[in-house]
Amino acid sequence: MLCLGLETSCDETAVALCEDGRPVAEKLASQIDVHALFGGVVPELASREHLRRMGPLLRTLFADSGLTLDEVDAVAVARGPGLLGSLLIGLATAKGLALGAGKPLIGVDHLHAHLMAATIGREVPYPALGLLVSGGHTQIMLLRSALDIAVLGRTVDDAAGEAFDKAAKSLNLPYPGGIYIDVLGRDIEADHTLFPRPFLDNHHLDFSFSGLKTAVATYVAAHGELRLPVMPSPGGAIDPSAWPMPLRRVCAALNFAIADTLRVKMERALDSRDTGPVRALLAAGGVAANSRIRGMLTELAARRGLPLFLPRPELCADNATMIAATGCLLGRAGLTHGLDCDAVPRGRRVPWDYREGPPLGRPSVDRRPGPQ
Ligand code: KG4
Ligand code: ZN
Repeated sequence: MLCLGLETSCDETAVALCEDGRPVAEKLASQIDVHALFGGVVPELASREHLRRMGPLLRTLFADSGLTLDEVDAVAVARGPGLLGSLLIGLATAKGLALGAGKPLIGVDHLHAHLMAATIGREVPYPALGLLVSGGHTQIMLLRSALDIAVLGRTVDDAAGEAFDKAAKSLNLPYPGGIYIDVLGRDIEADHTLFPRPFLDNHHLDFSFSGLKTAVATYVAAHGELRLPVMPSPGGAIDPSAWPMPLRRVCAALNFAIADTLRVKMERALDSRDTGPVRALLAAGGVAANSRIRGMLTELAARRGLPLFLPRPELCADNATMIAATGCLLGRAGLTHGLDCDAVPRGRRVPWDYREGPPLGRPSVDRRPGPQ
């Protein structure tokens, strides 16, 4: 089954093709430059950029892959959660393509797609315990199968990515700052006492990162020399050795505080009778690219004797391959939407409101990946 996927939930405009869950081609236009000026995503600008970039991206995706819309078996699109105005651009485009070419439409939960990014090209033994860490979400999930997922714990306020980004902002590092905190904090001993590991003194699996965000901002305000006088220009390679050691120590301590908080709650979930035995660990979302968090999960999985499934770093961030791959999974199960499928804004749960029908797709075709 060949599925076209569209992603416009935040600040990446992306389109991709997957054949039976395997990536065939992707085109992605990042809007980081547009939003970096403002230190965060400006929703109005994001919608306009999606509108401007979507058409040309689709044209090059088909031209470079040598495939046509006619050969596609379904059009999958991220329907939420995300910025409403941005989602509407993707959804309206997907509906137009589905209607014009007579193809089924599949609305995809962006969070479901993030998790599925960890399963691309691999056989995951279920049930699996999943950690979803992104700019807007921090959740522990139980995956009974790829299509049967329950949330066991979630953040009650800010997500881990928000804590990284706000810490970076207070240090005058460019947006989005997670990658800077990650790289600058690498290869140095982390002070385990500098920042609190928040919200552990309880028995549940929820997270809260707003206190940690404040703790870092307060620490940086009290040590003014940590704040860079001039914001470095975003993009390009980050060479940690070129940065002041006190700043790098703050980054290392923050990487530790967030990674270890995630570890404690994942261990708690593994030990909980409500979770039951699991056969694998899985993590996804932009923050799952963090090297300290990847190291923590690798160590945890080895200690617990479980296989670990992590997406390639480029599939951790928002992308359309994960939407197309999840579209394949849903289409194969005969799950689609009508053209009345609506967008779901941030903070609302995406309903499981698929229509059930016969499995989509034709026998698998062996396609060579197109140029990326
Ligand atoms: O999943 P994602 O691309 O977008 C959302 O759906 O939110 O996640 C973006 C978040 C941002 O907060 C960004 O700073 C963070 O992921 N991030 C990282 C790293 N790379 C991206 N955080 C820590 N370490 C990284 N290497
Ligand atoms: Zn995302």
